[in-house]
Amino acid sequence: MISIDNVTFRYQNQRGDEAALKNVSLTVEDGEFLGVIGTSGAGKTTLALAMCGVVPHEFKGDFYGAVLVDGEDTVEHAPSHFARKVGEVFQDIDSQMVASVVEDEILFGMENFGLPHEEIGARLDRVLREMGIEALRERSIASLSGGQKQKVAIAATLALEPRILVLDEPTGELDPESSREIFALLRRLCEEKGITVVIVEQKIKLLCEYAKRLIVLERGEMRFDGAPREVIAHVDTFKSLGINIPPVAELSAILREGGAYAGDVALTLPEAERMAREAMA
Ligand SMILES: Nc1ncnc2c1ncn2[C@@H]1O[C@H](COP(=O)(O)OP(=O)(O)OP(=O)(O)O)[C@@H](O)[C@H]1O
Ligand SMILES: [Mg+2]
Repeated sequence: MISIDNVTFRYQNQRGDEAALKNVSLTVEDGEFLGVIGTSGAGKTTLALAMCGVVPHEFKGDFYGAVLVDGEDTVEHAPSHFARKVGEVFQDIDSQMVASVVEDEILFGMENFGLPHEEIGARLDRVLREMGIEALRERSIASLSGGQKQKVAIAATLALEPRILVLDEPTGELDPESSREIFALLRRLCEEKGITVVIVEQKIKLLCEYAKRLIVLERGEMRFDGAPREVIAHVDTFKSLGINIPPVAELSAILREGGAYAGDVALTLPEAERMAREAMA
């Protein structure tokens, strides 16, 4: 569990007078699938970095409040202390990769943490299987597609058996099909292994489908926190922020306003069909 209690953080060399995070409080329960959205500069990456102690240890600045990972204060321990509990996958996969061959990339972290040799081999096999990339084992990383690289990055993180995965725009450079595949893999890890997933994303349609909870950051502040359907219902706010929400959700808001529809915000195609039928009746 991660509890974020009234966190305010301003980077040492941050421009302007505002802080990157302002009085953010949030509890991420074990096994949750949490999506984080917000416009550029809203503080999403900073929040992700604060969840594993990289903020304020590696990025210095003024930090107020507390982040507790399973009750341990991130200010009191180095990020490496949390690395096996909270796995991070960053947006820029290339800068995260340290090896040139897939299996070496996955081995690197485990060797770094000094896991016993037999254990390392077993975990390597397991994460390759879990991510469906056994065939890529000996491939050079440079020859992989974006989606394949992202799976390798997730596999390398999973090899450390974190209970929590924090991903910062992992599908940012992927096509719709590979993006959906990553989301489906994450859902499986969450449902079958109870891994907590925190994912910063721009792809709101996918988040609405896969995340159980969504938070919206705006200029460092928590604007909304709730089930995707409840959060997405604030159509006007998303419009004013310039965040595109799924067209069916927007349509339900319009129909509701006009009194033609009284149900919940529609997020999926079957729901949209039901909504259209009710509106036409
Ligand atoms: N290393 C840094 N040094 C100084 N200021 C920073 C640093 N990283 C981020 N900031 C500032 O902190 C604020 C929040 O940035 P952050 O990267 O967390 O936003 P974001 O929501 O992830 O944006 P994006 O969607 O563009 O990735 C911004 O005003 C940004 O300019
Ligand atoms: Mg970011």
